[in-house]
Amino acid sequence: MAMTDSAPTLDVAAIRADFPILARRVNDTRLVYLDSAATSQKPRCVIDAMERYYSETNANVHRGAHTLAAEASEAMESARRQVARFIKAPEAEEVIFTKNATEALNLVARSWGGTNLGPGDAVVLSHLEHHSNIVPWQILAAEKGFEIRWLPVGDDGHLDLSHLPILLDGAKLLAVTAMSNVTGALTPVDQMVAAAHDAGALAVIDACQSVPHLATDVAASGADFVAFSGHKMLGPTGVGVLWGRRDLLDAMPPFLGGGSMIENVTTEGFTTAPLPAKFEAGTPPIAEIVGLGAAVEYLERLGMGNVRRHEIELTAYALRALESRFGDEITVHGPSEPSERGGVFSFALGEVHPHDISQVLDQHGVAVRAGHHCAKPLMKVLGIGATARASVYVYNDEADIDQLIDGLAEAADFFTF
Ligand code: ALA
Repeated sequence: MAMTDSAPTLDVAAIRADFPILARRVNDTRLVYLDSAATSQKPRCVIDAMERYYSETNANVHRGAHTLAAEASEAMESARRQVARFIKAPEAEEVIFTKNATEALNLVARSWGGTNLGPGDAVVLSHLEHHSNIVPWQILAAEKGFEIRWLPVGDDGHLDLSHLPILLDGAKLLAVTAMSNVTGALTPVDQMVAAAHDAGALAVIDACQSVPHLATDVAASGADFVAFSGHKMLGPTGVGVLWGRRDLLDAMPPFLGGGSMIENVTTEGFTTAPLPAKFEAGTPPIAEIVGLGAAVEYLERLGMGNVRRHEIELTAYALRALESRFGDEITVHGPSEPSERGGVFSFALGEVHPHDISQVLDQHGVAVRAGHHCAKPLMKVLGIGATARASVYVYNDEADIDQLIDGLAEAADFFTF
């Protein structure tokens, strides 16, 4: 990999060489992977780190005095320190490894929400949320009898914050995304967290789409909990992260019970282990955590400032190219200013069905996602059932956008105009 932190943008050719899967062909065409909002591809260093772990180190963690157990434990704790540094967590023990971001959000809902929410309380969500930051609260609301209030999206694709003070009045929690997985809209996390705190509420941030693409500082954001997944940031599937403020995590009851999360167990009951073990019951996804550590190292070598700059440039190129090729026939949802969004474009092309678009693009080697993107309330607000969605990352370049547009032109010709 040829990049350094000081370079203005990314050397995509060098980066692509680090991703073995990008060498393959799909339907006899060069693969253009534009589905990184669903899951990113993995660089060789992540694949190697996991293979090395299984070939040389594999043992269960924190359970044995033998050499392999000590090495496996250190590999896992070293990855925890890397993740903590990457998101600027004040303490590594505040980084809890989960199965995925969904589990991280369920942990907050069950453990904090189950203890602190009841009849007469309210939780504020936004219309931009992914189902994983909606359904856990709905399940809990049905049990505990609290109210869910909704922060709307304005015509410009941004959250309409003018409603926030009223919505937060008497609320105990605000749970919002940092970046929409459908429109790429970035949300004003710091401002929303401050508003929540002013109202006496806590703030949970779903940072699945932002942590892979933007420099993250959980402490500076003021947030109380931040959830994200490993597989969208060049890491493997099977590992997610919950960061939380130590005082809150210390006061919360465990989420799952079992091995590793206890200090003592008797026939009468149990006491819990200190953080982070209290929230990591059972054998953790050790190899995946090691792989996530390697992914973080890779992103740090690229420099998150460069990652963000590259994606703004590519977003600007894509928005210009789509408009110039398709004019009024294309609607790209979300904010129009590249600096106000991530590299995620959900669009409608004339009357062509998103699934037809994605099928034609696949014939051109272009992978995009079509559907509701696990954000049905947002689909309803947009007045649509589904979109086609292209999403970029560090290994995409203008040639990829051009191949997307060629495929879209064929879909447009074939299906309608
Ligand atoms: N949340 C992922 C997506 O938006 C799966 O595609």
